[in-house]
Order: sequence, then C-alpha cells, then structure tokens
Amino acid sequence: MTNWKPPHLPAHVFVNPRLAPAEESLAAAATGVVDEAGFARAAAEIKAWPGYQPTPLRRLPGLAHQLGVGGIAYKDEGGRFGLGAFKAVGGAYAVLRHLQDKLGGDVSVADLLAGKHRARTRDITVCTATDGNHGKSVAWGAQIFGCRAVIYIHQGVSVGREQAIAAFGAEMRRIPDNYDASVRACAADAAKNGWQVISDTTWDGYQEIPRHVMHGYGVMMGEVMDQLAPAEQISHVFIQAGVGGLPAAVAGYLWLELDALRPKIVVVEPEKAACHFESAKAGRPTPVTGKLDTLMAGLACGEVSPLAWSLLDKASFAFMTVPDDAAVFAMKVLAEGIGGDGRIVGGEAGVGGLAGLIAGCLDERARQALLLDAHANILIIGSEGATDPVLYAELVGRKPEEVLAA
Ligand SMILES: Cc1ncc(COP(=O)(O)O)c(C=O)c1O
Repeated sequence: MTNWKPPHLPAHVFVNPRLAPAEESLAAAATGVVDEAGFARAAAEIKAWPGYQPTPLRRLPGLAHQLGVGGIAYKDEGGRFGLGAFKAVGGAYAVLRHLQDKLGGDVSVADLLAGKHRARTRDITVCTATDGNHGKSVAWGAQIFGCRAVIYIHQGVSVGREQAIAAFGAEMRRIPDNYDASVRACAADAAKNGWQVISDTTWDGYQEIPRHVMHGYGVMMGEVMDQLAPAEQISHVFIQAGVGGLPAAVAGYLWLELDALRPKIVVVEPEKAACHFESAKAGRPTPVTGKLDTLMAGLACGEVSPLAWSLLDKASFAFMTVPDDAAVFAMKVLAEGIGGDGRIVGGEAGVGGLAGLIAGCLDERARQALLLDAHANILIIGSEGATDPVLYAELVGRKPEEVLAA
C-alpha cells in the first residue's frame, strides 16, 4: 500500500469501569447534560442560518482495509459554515440564545440577521476564552447577530488563528499563560464589565450557555444519522476531547437516539493534555497542569468541563491518549487517501479521533482492549479542516488546496 509507513505510535488505553449498562437510559443515568428538546430546538434554529448545508460523511474503505476493521465513516466538518470546524454550530448558537433571552419575546433568527434589533444588541458584549475554533464561532455569531465580542487567547494560539478570529470584528486579548488561565481571565473581566461569557466549558453555577453549545453540536449528529445507510450500525465512535463538550454532545445524542444500540464511545486526547484520561483513572475530575503543549491546539485543555464529564464518566467505553505524531500521521493518511480513498484535509485537532483509531489498531493490546476487529464499523468526527493553513502545510508537506486539487 502506498505511503503506509506508520511511525511508532504508543497508545495508552483505559477501559472505563463505570460505563453504564447498555439497558440503562440516559434519563435513568440522570446526567441532565443534554436532552431531546434542546437538540431539536438547536437543529431548527441552526438550519435557518444563511449558508447552512450538511457536511459530508465520507467513507474510508481503503484505510479500513489497511487497519483490519470493517468500515470507517468520517464526518468531515472542514466546510462547516465556511469557518472550518464543527465549533461553528456551538458558540454561535449560544450567542443567538443569549441574545434571544436578553431581548425577550419571540426574537427570530431572521429578524436578528436583518438587523431589526441592532439598536439593542450592539450594546451587548459576549466574550470567551478559546484555543481558536470556539472563539471564531463566538466572534462570527456576534457579527452576524449584531453584538460585540471580546475573545481571549493563550500563549499557544498561533497568530494565524488569532487573525482568523479578529477577521470577524472581535476584540482580541492574549494572555501569556495556558488555556485554563485564559478561561479565568475572561471570566474575571466579564464579571467586572457586565459581559456575558459564552464558554464551551462549565463551572459551578455556569452551565446553561455551555449546554446550548453542546445542543448546537447535535446538528452534526442529526446529519450523521441521516447519512448512515438504512439499518447501518456504528460499533465505535473515536472522538477527540478538549474540555469534553464535543464528546459529551456526541455520546449524549447517540444515547438518546439509539439507547441500547448505542456505539462504544472512545474518548481520545493528546498525551500532554489528557484531563479526561486522568479523570477516568482517578474516578473524578482531575486536572492536568503544565504547558499542555500539543500540536492538537483545540485539545490543549487541562481541566474537564464538569458537566460534560458527568456524562462522559458513564457514557464512555474507553479513554485513550495519543502522541502528536499520531495526529500528524493521520493528517497525512487523509491527505494521501490510502487504498484509493478520497483525499481529505483534516486539521491537527480535527483528526484526534482518527489518530486514536490508527494508533489503537496498530498496537495489539490496545486493539484487543478496544474490541477492534473486522466487524467494527467506526464513526470518526473530523472536527476541523485546515484551520491553520500555514501549520497544515508544514505538517503535511502540501498546502490544503494542493491536497484537494491532487
Ligand atoms: C477542532 C476541534 N476538535 C475538537 C475539540 C474538542 O472539543 P471540546 O473542547 O468540546 O471537547 C475542539 C475544541 O476546541 C476543536 O477545536
């Protein structure tokens, strides 16, 4: 097979002893994290936004054959609303919900987009801390729905990502520390200035907005359900985690939708920012400190979102960590199109789940622990395209547009 030369990719797997039994419903597990009504409202609102289009679910039979699994379906979020990542449907949706709450009454998306409430919305400020994609979504939401945004970034966020957010008219503030410090700086300034924090992570007394964010992500899962073949069953989802909002939304959606037939959720993290992995081992939220220096920028989080964790603790079949090399290899595999697969542009954080699948398949112990065999039909959420095109070209050796043109 051309270009199939995987480097050594150590995969650490922790099989979750607290996984809820298949017959337990999400309501019985009493997580209260996501619900059907929340997903339904978000889908109805988001599908009314200009430029809405489902993103493609791409099949990778060549890679599945190479890895000895039955099938791989890759939900390619690179084209989401022109923002390059699934986050477009989370933060922007929470901005919308906040404005609707503030304005009261029946404020429609159409009226907000048409600027009918601009006189009031322009005095409202939303803010957030971000690794890049979430902040871009909040800045974009503020721009299209007509309010002001202040976005906090940390020392590891590239200038390219900073500029991409600033392009939506947001005020940018860089904190010379890690992601978690930028979360705290944002919260402190918001309290001082009367701004609304639109965060994708939760803390004591702050859950409603991040729940909107998670419900927004559900739009992606609704599309996946429509895109699967009739009666097709997914056995595993390999899903990357930052603070956990994405995997919790995915796991919660599938639990509500499929109940006992829900797939095994495998939460994948960079080895240097593995707060879910450590929390799973400890049996409670456990922070990871340090620089959290991983190439997978969107996943460089040291603290789980407690609300997301409360679901993932019960819904995850396993947690695993991968080295940055696994992400780079996964990006190259997608760009190359193994065994005749179509070429895909996947960004560093976006390929986290695929990196986990590849590393898990290549390591015999991990493969067995994860129950990966020729019957496995795996869903991957490719959560971003080349959101930092310069870094993408450095890592893959070709520009995103060259990959797509080849
Ligand atoms: C591309 C991408 N994938 C995955 C994630 C992880 O999402 P979460 O932090 O909700 O777990 C992020 C977070 O920023 C991201 O940008």
